[in-house]
Order: sequence, then structure tokens, then C-alpha cells
Amino acid sequence: MAQTLAADEQLRAERFYFERDRLHFIVGRGLLRTILGQYLQCEPSRLHFCYGPFAKPALLETSSGGKLSFNLAHSAGLALYAIVRDHEIGVDLEQLRPVMDMEQIAERFFAVGERAALQALPAQQQREGFFNCWTRKEAYLKALGSGLARPLAEFEVSLTPGEPARLVKVNGEPDEASRWVIQALTPAAGYVAALALPAITGITWQLNCWQWV
Ligand SMILES: CC(C)(COP(=O)(O)OP(=O)(O)OC[C@H]1O[C@@H](n2cnc3c(N)ncnc32)[C@H](O)[C@@H]1OP(=O)(O)O)[C@@H](O)C(=O)NCCC(=O)NCCS
Repeated sequence: MAQTLAADEQLRAERFYFERDRLHFIVGRGLLRTILGQYLQCEPSRLHFCYGPFAKPALLETSSGGKLSFNLAHSAGLALYAIVRDHEIGVDLEQLRPVMDMEQIAERFFAVGERAALQALPAQQQREGFFNCWTRKEAYLKALGSGLARPLAEFEVSLTPGEPARLVKVNGEPDEASRWVIQALTPAAGYVAALALPAITGITWQLNCWQWV
């Protein structure tokens, strides 16, 4: 897979201090190229990526008759890829792991409504609620392409386990919440993930999921 990477990706791979991180990056990008190559009927090494102002990768051009967009996330050895035609997309994935300073993180990064919703959860649901919130927030930001450069407390997502995922509100932009679809995903046991993409009148998104083994 290393051979399918572009020169800048190979340079990035070389800069990782730990071998495991280097391999994760190579496989993450190699698989991305393999999957996109199958959609576009193109050799993985012939795909060219460009990067937004906050480093969001995108395909430089496609010959598919439409623009293919993608986003990816990785956590603890698992990678999640989201691919859509003609629209922006964002995806985030986190392993459900113990978080020592959950309250402090929520205090610092979550919106007021999110903190209240988290506190209202029974203790055994708090970790799931926390990661629901985190992945939904990050998926939205990754769809926008702004990454964590945009303040996280300025917008609110749902987080209560069992309730639908949604963007609740964005401060100062009253219509923004209705412009996005947030979809919760469980790509593997012990992980939570979220997908964000625009809500468009007349379009009902059809989500197909595959596992790469
Ligand atoms: C994007 C970001 C939220 C990723 O967070 P993370 O939890 O560390 O990583 P994830 O596993 O969720 O996602 C990583 C993938 O997201 C993609 N990505 C990188 N930047 C992105 C962005 N701004 N928007 C959307 N996706 C992005 C990449 O494909 C990356 O995978 P790669 O390592 O193979 O390149 C975080 O890196 C960020 O905030 N970046 C912005 C940084 C920034 O503002 N830099 C200033 C540049 S001037």
C-alpha cells in the first residue's frame, strides 16, 4: 500500500515516530485510495488529493460525471470511511474508552445544553453520551472542513443514548441545524461514530455500510 501513496503522503508516513502509527497511516490512506479507486475505476496510485485551508483532504478531480467526496476517521486500529457524491461529508469515530477527566473536557468544550444532557444521564451511560457528543460534534466540523479550529461550544448536538442523533442548534445561525443530517453509527463493538451531511429538500439519503476485511 505504501507504493500507492503520493510523495507528500510518503513523506508524512516517514515522519511518524512510532512504527505502529506509520503503518496505520499507510494502511489508512492506502485503503482510502483502494476504495476510491474502485468507485472511480482508477488505479489507487493515480488519484490526486488536494487539501482545504484546515487540511481536509479531497479528490483533486474525478471523471465520474460528478464530484466524489469523502472523509475518514481512525481510532484504536479501526478506520471509518464515508463517501458521497456531490456533497460535503464528515465522519468521526472513537473507541469507547475510559476518560479520566470527562467532566473537565465537557466543561471546556461542550455547549451548555450538552453539559446539562450529559449530567442528566445515569452514571453507566455517561461515557457513551460523552462519545456520542464528541463524535457528532467532530463529524459536523469535519463536514464543514473547519476541524477543531471552530469553537466547539458554539453549537449543540444531541447525545442521550437511544435518542436520534441531530444537530440541535448553532449559535447565531438559526437555520443551520435544519441544514444538516447527523447519523449515529456503530461500526464495531466498543466504538461509536457519527456521520454529518447536508439535509437537502427532495433528497433522502440512502446509507450503505460495508466492512473491509
Ligand atoms: C480534523 C481533525 C478534527 C481530526 O481529528 P482527529 O480526531 O485527530 O482525527 P480523525 O481520526 O477524526 O480524522 C483524521 C482524518 O480526518 C481528515 N481530516 C484532516 N483535516 C480535516 C479537516 N479539517 N476536516 C475534515 N477532515 C479532516 C484526514 O483524512 C485525517 O486522516 P489522515 O490522518 O489519514 O490524514 C483535527 O485534526 C483538526 O481539527 N484539524 C484542523 C487542524 C487545523 O485547524 N489546523 C490548522 C491549519 S492552518
